[in-house]
Amino acid sequence: MRLDKYLADMGIGQRSEIKKEIRRGAAEVNGSVILDPGFSVPAEASVLWRGNPVSYEPYVYYMMNKPAGVISATEDSRDKTVLDLITGRKRKGLFPVGRLDRDTEGLVLITNDGLLAHRLLSPRYHVNKTYAVCVDGAMTDTEVQQFAAGLPVRDSEPFTALPAELVILPDSGGSEFLLTIREGKYHQVKRMCAAVGRPVRKLKRVSMGPLQLDAALTPGEYRRLTSEELQQLLQCASLQRG
Ligand code: URA
Repeated sequence: MRLDKYLADMGIGQRSEIKKEIRRGAAEVNGSVILDPGFSVPAEASVLWRGNPVSYEPYVYYMMNKPAGVISATEDSRDKTVLDLITGRKRKGLFPVGRLDRDTEGLVLITNDGLLAHRLLSPRYHVNKTYAVCVDGAMTDTEVQQFAAGLPVRDSEPFTALPAELVILPDSGGSEFLLTIREGKYHQVKRMCAAVGRPVRKLKRVSMGPLQLDAALTPGEYRRLTSEELQQLLQCASLQRG
């Protein structure tokens, strides 16, 4: 890979700036200063940028606490997207795994690892997603059992939801609960709640498989996955990386 691309992929900065800096002597490869931005970086090379080591990562993984009002997409002509909130790294190739509605908050995984994304969303891998939900009114025990048994949703595109676990939060009077689903149909949580006559007032995704939303992330903040989080996620998708 060209040296300027390698460095841009590592989030060092804009490619045009990187080229200028390379020509001024900012980059070293295997102990030699390289002034040619098109220099081909050998595999396993030791690369320094302004004297600091840079190691190439083909895949990157971030967890974001998506704020309401932001779209889970790579670009949008009108609204801000989750990728617009990523700063400092080249965003090319990154995408959010799965979609949250514009008004839904919470956990979004952002990566350039297409195979992992595919598996996390595929029904074959049964990756649970848990949402904190607040509805109008109170869920009854009968409704909790209906969710557990596989709820028929008879709206304009009827389906029967796979069994879902609904745990009512203490002191919420039945209007706040955690709902764990194993599939990701369009507006699934809202449609399931509407099917029992309880419109959703607030929705937040709190986990995806083993990955839990970091409570320290305020809406709009993101961070890289820790290596432990990544290993657990790869394991649940039967993947190995690196
Ligand atoms: N279900 C919904 O209805 N909306 C979301 O954003 C996610 C799941």
